[in-house]
Amino acid sequence: MSLSIAYHGHACVSLVGPDGTVVIDPFFDDNRVCTVAASEVQCDAIGVTHGHHDHLGDAISIAKRTGAVVFTTAELAKFLQEHGITTHAMHVGGSHRFRFGEVKLVAAFHGGSIAEDTGHTVCTPCGIIVRMGGFSVYHAGDTALTIEMELLGRYDHIDLALLPIGDNYTMGPEDALHAVELIRPEAVIPIHYNTFPVIEQDAEQFKRAVETQTPARCVILQPGETHTLE
Ligand code: NI
Ligand code: MN
Repeated sequence: MSLSIAYHGHACVSLVGPDGTVVIDPFFDDNRVCTVAASEVQCDAIGVTHGHHDHLGDAISIAKRTGAVVFTTAELAKFLQEHGITTHAMHVGGSHRFRFGEVKLVAAFHGGSIAEDTGHTVCTPCGIIVRMGGFSVYHAGDTALTIEMELLGRYDHIDLALLPIGDNYTMGPEDALHAVELIRPEAVIPIHYNTFPVIEQDAEQFKRAVETQTPARCVILQPGETHTLE
C-alpha cells in the first residue's frame, strides 16, 4: 500500500492512492509558484477546505472537465452545485467513504466567504483528513492553532500533517510547531508559505524546530515535487 503526495505550491496538493487521485484546494492557474496548468489536472475527486480564491481556485473548471466529485462543507457544496458541479456535501465532524478512500472534515479556525460569489456567501472553513492507500493525511486548510487539534492527536492516527506556516492569514511557524505537538503526526509537510511576500517563511528553520522538539519528521517539498508514503 502506498500514497503519493504531489505538492503544487500554496495549499494545493494531489494525493495519489491505489483507488484514485484526490486534489485538495486546487489553486493552479493563479498560483504563481505552481508548475501545472488546471487544464492538465486529472483526478477523481476534489476536496475544498473553504471558499477563498487561493483554495477554491480552479475547482469549477477541473470538476466540469473531468467529472470529479467535489467534497466540501454543505454551503460551499451548494454554491458549486449551482455551477453544475457534482458535489458531495459534508460538514465538520462528518466522515464519508468514497471509492478512493475515506474523508473526514474537521475544525479549522478561519474565515470562509466565497470570493467568486457576488452574494458573498459565508461558509464554515474546514480541515480534511483523507485515508487512502493505508495512510491517513490531514490537510489543515487555513487555520489558527486550535485546541481541537489535540483531538487528532488523541483519537486519529495521522501519518502526515500538511500544516500552514505562512503566518499573517494562518498559523505561523511557532504555532505550527505547537500544532505538531498536539496532532502527533509521523511526518509534517509545511504549506501555505512563500506564495506571496506577506507569507514568506524559512521552511528549513521550521523543519529544524520540528525535528528537534517533536518526534515527527518534516519533509519540505518544492512546488512540483512528490513525497511517497509506503
Ligand atoms: Ni483562506
Ligand atoms: Mn489561504
